[in-house]
Amino acid sequence: MKTILVIGIGAGNPEYITVQAVKALNRVDVFFLMDKGSDKDALNRLRKDICERYITDRHYRIVEALNPERQREGVAYRQAVDNLNSEKQQTFERLIAEELAEGECGAFLVWGDPSLYDSTMRILEAIIEGGRHELQYEVIPGITSVQALTARHRTSLNHIGRSVQITTGRRLAEGFPENADSVVVMLDAKNTYTSLQDHDLDVYWGAYLGTPDEILIAGKLRDVAQEIERVRKAAREANGWIMDTYLLKRSGQDDLDR
Ligand SMILES: C[S@@+](CC[C@H](N)C(=O)[O-])C[C@H]1O[C@@H](n2cnc3c(N)ncnc32)[C@H](O)[C@@H]1O
Repeated sequence: MKTILVIGIGAGNPEYITVQAVKALNRVDVFFLMDKGSDKDALNRLRKDICERYITDRHYRIVEALNPERQREGVAYRQAVDNLNSEKQQTFERLIAEELAEGECGAFLVWGDPSLYDSTMRILEAIIEGGRHELQYEVIPGITSVQALTARHRTSLNHIGRSVQITTGRRLAEGFPENADSVVVMLDAKNTYTSLQDHDLDVYWGAYLGTPDEILIAGKLRDVAQEIERVRKAAREANGWIMDTYLLKRSGQDDLDR
């Protein structure tokens, strides 16, 4: 039997790592790092720093593999994601077959938490279902970019007793959800918040959260939307890539609750 640990490493700050994750890191023989190209070198640099910083008295190996890219043109989004996951599955299977010996422990260091917009667990389930590998896996939770965002802005996710929705820029483009007062938006490459300026919303925006490049902006959406768009564009150009998340809250809802 081979064991895989899916370890949530937090979303940017090496100190986001939990005690449980540190213990898990110290069980690992082989770390599998998926290389997303030079833009995101910084993310794998952080993964290596975490290994150097928290693993004591243990010899481990790092195996890097090229992460397949999602096809962006000429195919529907859902199909492109399915294709991507099946290519990733092939890569994972090869790594597990060729780089991990029987009885050894391998690990994927997942950005933030493995339950949030991440396919690692889905892919491992598909591999186990395929039946070609004797494999078990464990999941260690991590601090998501959502928690990093709310902590840095010192704000709660929800208004008192109200609902929160976590969604993507693509979904938000369909409109602000009727059944939630707070919406966290991830994976938004298109500044979708700019289309909601006629709503009475507060925005809490964060880029590169937990890293030395972190940027925070908050305020009434209609007052700060242009500033976010400008700062976001400049940061993206300066760094070659951007990771940002924002929380939109209907203004004044806590007053209604009292
Ligand atoms: C594929 S999802 C992975 C989410 C991750 N599993 C988590 O728990 O946060 C990637 C998206 O997460 C958000 N994100 C991740 N890390 C971030 C960070 N340090 N700062 C701002 N947003 C971040 C961005 O919206 C990015 O597009």
